[in-house]
Amino acid sequence: MKQLYLVANWKSNKSIEEGKIWLNTLSEKLSGITVPTHIHIILCAPFIDLPSLQEIVKMKTLPIELGAQDVSPYPSGAYTGEVNAQMLVDVVTWVLIGHSERRKHFHETDAELTQETQEVQKAGLNSIYCVEGPQQLIPKEATIILYEPTSAIGAGKTEDPSLSNDICREISEKNNAKLVLYGGSVTQDSVTEILTKSNIHGVAIGGASLDPIQFFQIINIVSSL
Ligand code: PGA
Repeated sequence: MKQLYLVANWKSNKSIEEGKIWLNTLSEKLSGITVPTHIHIILCAPFIDLPSLQEIVKMKTLPIELGAQDVSPYPSGAYTGEVNAQMLVDVVTWVLIGHSERRKHFHETDAELTQETQEVQKAGLNSIYCVEGPQQLIPKEATIILYEPTSAIGAGKTEDPSLSNDICREISEKNNAKLVLYGGSVTQDSVTEILTKSNIHGVAIGGASLDPIQFFQIINIVSSL
């Protein structure tokens, strides 16, 4: 069975309280379906939201793994404002690295992103390494790869799934056959076509993940593919 990853990326949205309401709403909906074990639901939330989300996931034994949206390239020490990989170990199993918004707004470089990926691996966590295309450098320590064409992010329209499929294949071939996901304007209307492409092993969902009902609908559709 093809392993499929559904990654919700809240970006810089949701207070602690809003996050809890979101997860409780999703939990109610999920209680009505069975999520097959080949589907991995990963919720990437702001650092501040993660501990209270973790409590709910544990208490309700939800089929959800948590992820951070960023991590320090350094270990613990004198790096004011940073959250390092070791600190995340108790709360998440995944870390999103090198999202195009971090490269653009925070000027994260390939060297820093490689360090972040290595820190994540050292801590025993998994990384979702984001790239904008096959030409971008991907550290060998990355667990899975997320291909996100910047023109499709928040654009309201996905890239042509056949093109994404070709690009995901190329990225995978160049990187030790790692699994590659697609991200950029994925919704319940586009998810089936994207995930039935052979080289696409999951999707990242930004805008459409902010509403728990929309995110549930995506999970429900993918569960019955
Ligand atoms: P979007 O964001 O679904 O809102 O296009 C995807 C992402 O940036 O991960």
